[in-house]
Amino acid sequence: MEAKYDVVVAGAGAAGMMCAAQAGQRGRRVLVIDHAKAPGEKIRISGGGRCNFTNIHTAPANFLSDNPRFCISALRRYTPRDFIALVDRYGIAHHEKTLGQLFCDGSARQIIDLLLAEMSKGGVELRLQTAITEFARTGTGFALQTTGGPVACDSLVIATGGKSIPKMGATGFGYEVARQFGLRVTETRPALVPLTFDVSLLERTAPLSGVAVDPAQVSVGRTRFSEALLFTHRGLSGPAILQASSYWREGQEIEVALAPGLDVYAELRAARTRRPKAAPATVLSDLLPKRLAQLIAETHAPTGNMADQSDKVLRALAEAVNAWRVKPVGSEGYRTAEVTLGGVDTRDLESRTLAARDVPGLYFIGEVVDVTGWLGGYNFQWAWASGWSAGQSV
Ligand code: FDA
Repeated sequence: MEAKYDVVVAGAGAAGMMCAAQAGQRGRRVLVIDHAKAPGEKIRISGGGRCNFTNIHTAPANFLSDNPRFCISALRRYTPRDFIALVDRYGIAHHEKTLGQLFCDGSARQIIDLLLAEMSKGGVELRLQTAITEFARTGTGFALQTTGGPVACDSLVIATGGKSIPKMGATGFGYEVARQFGLRVTETRPALVPLTFDVSLLERTAPLSGVAVDPAQVSVGRTRFSEALLFTHRGLSGPAILQASSYWREGQEIEVALAPGLDVYAELRAARTRRPKAAPATVLSDLLPKRLAQLIAETHAPTGNMADQSDKVLRALAEAVNAWRVKPVGSEGYRTAEVTLGGVDTRDLESRTLAARDVPGLYFIGEVVDVTGWLGGYNFQWAWASGWSAGQSV
């Protein structure tokens, strides 16, 4: 006998649990299916275990999509204020870390518990370690084959996320469902991901592994981010680089300012007069971490003290500090990417409800959709907003 539900949500992640709770509280009979052992695994590891659950400055400009206007409706319907009010109702203490990013004071687990409590308020059933093996449209809804038996539903919500961190159960399942039902899927690629260098560049930068610069300004084309940057044994990471990675494409250079806002050439000229006997590395280490200052000085002013350096050399030093143009060779890929850029094409979805335009009863929410937020709580806000919006409609 197949079990019959009003709504089946595939994926017990951030978006799926929010949607299921809303639909359940509206009186719908809801089943959530996930192949993982536990719900909300990405929430659990997010924000270094404290979950950066929203950003108070959330605006459409913080999202990438082929249609930058698509996210507006859901983000307006369910705002960071709404989620903060929910968090407050559960007495979860939180703080703003930086740039509008809100984190739990305690643990990300509190957000998962909140979502589970909201689901149980709506009588939602959760089946873990269950895979959907087949899915088809029937006259009035959908018929699913799962490893826990057949299931029928009127509305099917795909909330299976993107491809990042396959080790945690990420799959391309959502894109497969979209394609099977005739929806388009835009090109997908790893985003919010460290960038890597080729061997010859790595030879020079490897000794810097572990060195952080905060803030650095990283530009890709006309897009800029001023946040921390970290040298790694593979290339560059840190929030400024993760942000830039969403805009970067193979073959493109990024420009890095390691002492943003400072006229480094003027500083160096002044230092040549004031401290003629100082080594260039010593002067640079007033502006930069010591190891980085040493490497830049060795490369561009290998001999002599400040008094011996020509204007040309000082310019080269200044450029290495604040206009370092570097061409990454790639990224660390889905293994470490926080999100997947691209996804289910928004042209085939209703922006208010996240429903498929041409397949009644089918919905796509969260990261599987071609809406990708910046680093800083924006991706969870999209998961809450899109999940909530679909939850009002299923
Ligand atoms: P999500 O990936 O959360 O959930 C999808 C669910 O579907 C999973 O439970 C998965 O097991 C299940 N699933 C997948 N395929 C399936 C299948 N075939 N059958 C059944 N179930 C299936 N964002 C943010 O705003 N603030 C932050 O602090 C962080 N931090 C962070 C850290 C790290 C390490 C990562 C990897 C990511 C973040 N993010 C983040 C991004 C954020 O985690 C992400 O955008 C959301 O979790 C997306 O929510 P979804 O519900 O769409 O997918």
